Amino acid sequence: MTVENDSLRKQIKEAIASQKRPTVTVLSSLLAIQDSIGYIPNEAIEEVAIAMNASINSVFGVASFYPNFRFTPPGDHSVEVCWGPTCHLLGAGRVLDEVLEQLGLEDEGDTPDGQVSFRFNTCLGACSRGPVISIDHELYGNVTDTQASILLRQLKDNPKTS
Ligand code: FES
Repeated sequence: MTVENDSLRKQIKEAIASQKRPTVTVLSSLLAIQDSIGYIPNEAIEEVAIAMNASINSVFGVASFYPNFRFTPPGDHSVEVCWGPTCHLLGAGRVLDEVLEQLGLEDEGDTPDGQVSFRFNTCLGACSRGPVISIDHELYGNVTDTQASILLRQLKDNPKTS
């Protein structure tokens, strides 16, 4: 076992153990892990199986059932475009087209350089400010396609170095 692997397992165990909810389940544990490290590595499946006294197959079954779980590390930056009904009516389509164009993507996913993970969101909780996008968990409201383009160019010009 490598030091890197040890550290990953430690983070996973801490995420499982730190859940404050009254009922800890396979699903809640997977959610806690993804919140903590951003994805569900194989080690997470194993540790949840041990902690919940469940089989690896059943834990993987839960993880693979929910499309929000990802099995590879996320990009350095996260970008989300709200595709909820309000944002849709307020022009999210134009913003979405611009974001996909800037990222060189056709759908949700990671840019080839690993810098950005892009996904849709069904409501970012700021409907009155639609269209809304989120960049690294910061919300931007009343966004135009031009503003989205500028924000993404700024993101590309400031890649994470660590
Ligand atoms: S529908 Fe877009 S923030 Fe709610």
